[in-house]
Amino acid sequence: MKSPVMLSSTLLVVLFLSFGISCHAQLGYGYYNGKCGNQDVESIIRSIVQSRFNADRKIVAGLLRLQFHDCFVNGCDASILLDGPFSEKTAPPNLSVFGYDVIDQIKKALEATCPGVVSCSDIIIAAVRDALVMAGGLPYRVQMGRKDGMVSFAGLANNNLPPPNIPVPLAIQAFQARGLNPFDMVLLLGGHTVGVTHCSVIRDRLYNFNGSGRPDPSLNPLYVQILSNIVCPRFSSVDNIVFLDDPSSVLTVDNSYYKQLLQNKGILPIDQAIAMDWSTAWIVQLLANTNLFPNLFNQAMVKLGAVQVLTGQQGQIRRDCRRTN
Ligand code: HEM
Repeated sequence: MKSPVMLSSTLLVVLFLSFGISCHAQLGYGYYNGKCGNQDVESIIRSIVQSRFNADRKIVAGLLRLQFHDCFVNGCDASILLDGPFSEKTAPPNLSVFGYDVIDQIKKALEATCPGVVSCSDIIIAAVRDALVMAGGLPYRVQMGRKDGMVSFAGLANNNLPPPNIPVPLAIQAFQARGLNPFDMVLLLGGHTVGVTHCSVIRDRLYNFNGSGRPDPSLNPLYVQILSNIVCPRFSSVDNIVFLDDPSSVLTVDNSYYKQLLQNKGILPIDQAIAMDWSTAWIVQLLANTNLFPNLFNQAMVKLGAVQVLTGQQGQIRRDCRRTN
């Protein structure tokens, strides 16, 4: 039998370890409270996002995709923000990502208020949350305390960001590798409720699906007509944009994306595929036919924001989001 002294020292070690873990390996709510003088870090971020949103609502899509592309490559460590000849932002899937200037503006304001306190990776997460709420999403709290990564490689972005024609089982694997289950994946693809793509990305679906010389049969034939006659004419030299959601709600966070999928109007191959694959179709049905999406989407965004984060002594707090200190 263990003596009381041994038992209490074991307890102390356990307590010490779990305290250490919760201090260093965890994110927390209100993390910056009291760390930036009497300033409220989250309201500084929100006011800058708000003024950009007032000028251009497309910023919601830009920032949201920026977070996804950051978190999927080496975790949410703001590595997508680093400049350099071969950094992540130079990889082809990232060339149409935008919103870097808003993050710079926020960082500048925060450095002027409390230098070296707020990480670029936390700025991304809070700015995306604010933008989503401005676009009609439900408010939600984000945990903070991420540190910024020190490396950024285009090759990693190329290898880790899923292509638009990824088969559902492979997409599920990619999300699972980051701790996100198929339900999270379908919810997060709901981010396409605010976005656009380009004709070049869906040209094959409209004109030469799998080398058949015909449109993708899974795409609504009426929609094919509209897209090929008006939005993406076959021999146009202009790479027009195509809304990923119902055009009337493309600037709003809502479940209309899933409703579109049920009408075979999914624009990217992966969009339509999640409505047709047995493993995800039921989730699309559920989200299209209920009002569960806004709340569940927020929960999935919180999970996305926690992928492979650096905390405690890991990484650093960059003074300039575009370069390491
Ligand atoms: C298998 C997963 C995914 C694939 C294959 C995928 C692919 C794509 C592609 C090809 C585009 C169009 C890019 C362009 O034409 O410039 C796009 C746009 C977009 N994606 Fe995804 N995506 C995925 C998941 C996500 C997730 C999880 C989010 C966010 C949570 C997201 C947010 C967005 C947004 C907001 C846009 C619109 C960007 C804009 O309007 O500029 N995507 N996605």
